[in-house]
Amino acid sequence: MLVADALIEAAHTALTDAIIYYQNQPVGTIAARDPAAEALNYDQCFVRDFVPSALFFLMQGQADIVRNFLIVSLELQSRERRLDCFQPGQGLHPASFKVVGEQETEYLVADFGEQAIARVAPVDSCFWWLILLRAYVKATEDWALAHRADFQMGIQLILQLCLEARFDLFPTLLVPDGSCMIDRRMGLSGHPLEIQTLFYAALRTAQELLLPEGTGVTYLQAVTTRLSHLTYHLRQYYWMDLQRLNEIYRYKGEQFGDGAMNRFNVYPDTIPAWLVDWLTDHSGYFVGNLGPGQIDFRFFGLGNLMAVVVSLATAQQSQAITHLIEQQWQDLVGSMPFKICFPALAGQDWRTITGCDPKNIPWSYHNGGNWPVLLWFLTAATLKTGRADLAAKALDIAEKRLSIDQWAEYYDGRHGKLIGKEARKYQTWTIAAFLVSKTLLANPHHLSLISFEQELDTNSCVL
Ligand code: GLC
Repeated sequence: MLVADALIEAAHTALTDAIIYYQNQPVGTIAARDPAAEALNYDQCFVRDFVPSALFFLMQGQADIVRNFLIVSLELQSRERRLDCFQPGQGLHPASFKVVGEQETEYLVADFGEQAIARVAPVDSCFWWLILLRAYVKATEDWALAHRADFQMGIQLILQLCLEARFDLFPTLLVPDGSCMIDRRMGLSGHPLEIQTLFYAALRTAQELLLPEGTGVTYLQAVTTRLSHLTYHLRQYYWMDLQRLNEIYRYKGEQFGDGAMNRFNVYPDTIPAWLVDWLTDHSGYFVGNLGPGQIDFRFFGLGNLMAVVVSLATAQQSQAITHLIEQQWQDLVGSMPFKICFPALAGQDWRTITGCDPKNIPWSYHNGGNWPVLLWFLTAATLKTGRADLAAKALDIAEKRLSIDQWAEYYDGRHGKLIGKEARKYQTWTIAAFLVSKTLLANPHHLSLISFEQELDTNSCVL
């Protein structure tokens, strides 16, 4: 292992090398710089991948690149109201973009999923853009940027896209499979936790950044109402602990009308065998998905950690999630923080749910792999719950390997001991997540860039 300072310097250099320029201005970072692998779209700036880079730049006082990123992403946001299914819907932000041409003829090309493998639509991008805008404003006090007419319009278009009544009657968002960090078929279609958590954070961001004037007033009202329903729904129905498991275990089916206990008609036989022993007295987590007749009991890393960071989880639930991480450390952290989802799909489930995806075999990649980018979420969540000791322990594990393994994208195996079968090296968000975690641990006040305080009272709110 490199000595601490040299390690940070190496990470810093690798991050600087990943910066991309547009019209001589830094505007983002490319996903990976692996000289040994075909670039595919890893030479593009992904919105979600840029998040840890941006946070680190903000913590370093290098706000320009983040400001430029926010401006160019906003320009790429789909603006026209279309009736053409082959064009991105109004308000959508791209998954990624790249710079094409040189000097005066330079232009940006965005990918809204029409190029991406399996043509997946990036629902998370618009939320990350909003969350980053808030982080930027918090770091710089540059309210003027967020208050610019084009930014206010950009925020309203995102809200319009999300708040419009659609084909279901839940406060959560109905999205297709592969529309977030897990951008391959993994059985996430419906109402996956990651999207709901980011949606929640985006709504809270909008409350802070939208001006209460003109159409802003109507949007602010809609945001407040939706937030309260969404929060109640997630805290109540997505929550899993032993008490809730006991309720589900004794559920009766086929209940009709207002008095139904088993609102979503979930059958107790769907409770997976691993879960009963995995939960302990004081632990709990948010399940992966909830829909008609369905609970996806898998534990998803990003959604749960982010739920703590942004206070979607109550203070008590946050403690329970932290407790679970501590109790199931080998399963969730193991040799590299942090598990993207637990447990892996295997056998017939793998066949039918992933579509026999060879990249997502059990305990690999999205299907139970360990992703170093999740280190920063883990650091933020454990700092927020007052467990800096867990953050330090995880960082210690990660820093022994990250540089030696050339900043691998992900790790395989039940405990994350193997460098991912097809993992890129010099993966930018791996590098940035390490730098963010290091910086957060040393200066926890930076947590406020991304976290929200507990303040929503949903006791009186019923679905
Ligand atoms: C993979 C990941 C996705 C990430 C992209 C670029 O497709 O699944 O989350 O944004 O690589 O790193």
